[in-house]
Amino acid sequence: MNTNATHQEATGGATPGWWTEAVIYQIYPRSFADADGDGVGDLPGITARLDHLADLGVDAIWLSPFYPSPQADAGYDVADYRGVEPLFGTLSDADRLIAEAKARGLRVIVDLVPNHTSSAHVWFTEALAAAPGSAARQRYVFRDGRGPDGAEPPNDWQSVFGGPAWSRVTEPDGRPGQWYLHLFDSAQPDLNWDNPEVRAEFVDVLRFWLDRGVDGFRVDVAHGLIKQADLADWQEPQEILSGQEVDKPRPPMWDQDGVHDIYRQWRQVLDSYGSSAEDGRILVAEAWVEPAERLARYVRPDEMHQAFNFEYLLAAWTAPAQYAVITRSLEATDAVGAPTTWVLSNHDVVRHASRLGLPIGTPRPNGIGIGDPQPDAAVGLRRARAATLLMLALPGSAYLYQGEELGLPEHTTLPDEVRQDPTFRRTGGAHRGRDGCRVPIPWEADAPSYGFGPTDASWLPQPPSWAEYALDRQRGVPGSTYELYRGALRLRREHGLGRGTLRWQESPDTVLSFTNGGLTVLTNFGPDPVPLPAGAQVVQASAPLDDAGRVPTDATVWYR
Ligand code: GLC
Repeated sequence: MNTNATHQEATGGATPGWWTEAVIYQIYPRSFADADGDGVGDLPGITARLDHLADLGVDAIWLSPFYPSPQADAGYDVADYRGVEPLFGTLSDADRLIAEAKARGLRVIVDLVPNHTSSAHVWFTEALAAAPGSAARQRYVFRDGRGPDGAEPPNDWQSVFGGPAWSRVTEPDGRPGQWYLHLFDSAQPDLNWDNPEVRAEFVDVLRFWLDRGVDGFRVDVAHGLIKQADLADWQEPQEILSGQEVDKPRPPMWDQDGVHDIYRQWRQVLDSYGSSAEDGRILVAEAWVEPAERLARYVRPDEMHQAFNFEYLLAAWTAPAQYAVITRSLEATDAVGAPTTWVLSNHDVVRHASRLGLPIGTPRPNGIGIGDPQPDAAVGLRRARAATLLMLALPGSAYLYQGEELGLPEHTTLPDEVRQDPTFRRTGGAHRGRDGCRVPIPWEADAPSYGFGPTDASWLPQPPSWAEYALDRQRGVPGSTYELYRGALRLRREHGLGRGTLRWQESPDTVLSFTNGGLTVLTNFGPDPVPLPAGAQVVQASAPLDDAGRVPTDATVWYR
């Protein structure tokens, strides 16, 4: 790549703190480890497996929601923000998990879901029982319908999960009544963030978990809380991504300027619990916002600490695309003095070991199922290992999703009957949805449910191929994906890569190369093997070098 090398230098973080270089591991509690054998993972299961994470060498864990919830959206429909769903355990299990994690030097981030509650939340029950215009209704977004009988939704917005973003209620007197907004499932009514009562409630929820010792919050749909006041129609198809280009209007439901006031207030609350490099409590935005400069507004010095870099996650596997997104991301966050946050997989997207096995240029799939074009598993894993090794060498913070350290692919042949993601139902099956990345992970090749729990039960079926990915098949095996991750995390720490400075090196068009922290990193995207400079000492490689000591296709090496 011709990288104008002299101009490209970026640090990935101006104000150092533990979070600016942390590697944070996402745990999806339903699918991590099941202590009680009911087929659904739980908090005691996580606690019992914390040693795995300490051995792996991550700095922190982020727990997807474990709060009381009817599970209409796998826990992102919260009925009570101050408790634990019985499926997952008790509040004392949460306290124990936090304490045990800390005892192993792992920080703990919990998920906060402020855009919407569950329809089972007491506030929504009160809203349904109350009259139009009442204080109870004003905690949500209720409106009269359009048309003579109010039988048409108040505007044309669509739900991210498919279908209309409005549902009509039956008034207490039995007549068809108002409509409420839900950008996601109808069991997830959107809150009205213009209401001071809503703001006060969430400050209190923050304090509740901060008092229990958490180190921060991952903020769900952080770009959605404020809607354009007139709720204007939006003729475009609905996507969670703001998709906003400089010359295009911004969707009225995403990335409104008003959201930033909320995060400024929260930042003050968090800072009152600790703001130093060691004890800072952090906010990380799940904000599907483009371009990078617009996303960077969420991480200005008095707002959040991090924002997931989805533009990076979505970038094509080519040298120019990766160069462009890395450069843009570093520049945008450097401009506001925040760390860049790298991520390749999470519970909402096709796992990168499968995504990268699809032909380059395939649009982002929303799940893969039987009958869909299948990824090439070998190519996918090979590229995933190369991509991860590239990512872990970049300055800034990185997020890992449970199972990726095993090279786990998406379950791409999950029968439709077992799918639980509301996306599948609400799109009439047009989108397979996200179940394939949420299948319980394998720990032991020969145990029931591959060691997920003590029984065969698993809330989504695990494919037979899971045995070969099990942790006990990979631990101590040179070249395994697990050992690749573990080795890379150790070297990343030793060389201070997370707080280092990236300097691009001149390289052929299908190669990316840069230095950071005394190491040189090289990724070969091209068809031909690439030689290393004479005397190069390879310290980590995503694939073996060829007989001539060259870097093969779809491989990354770190060398001195
Ligand atoms: C976020 C979550 C996703 C959830 C949605 C609605 O995008 O990551 O899993 O379905 O918000 O809460």
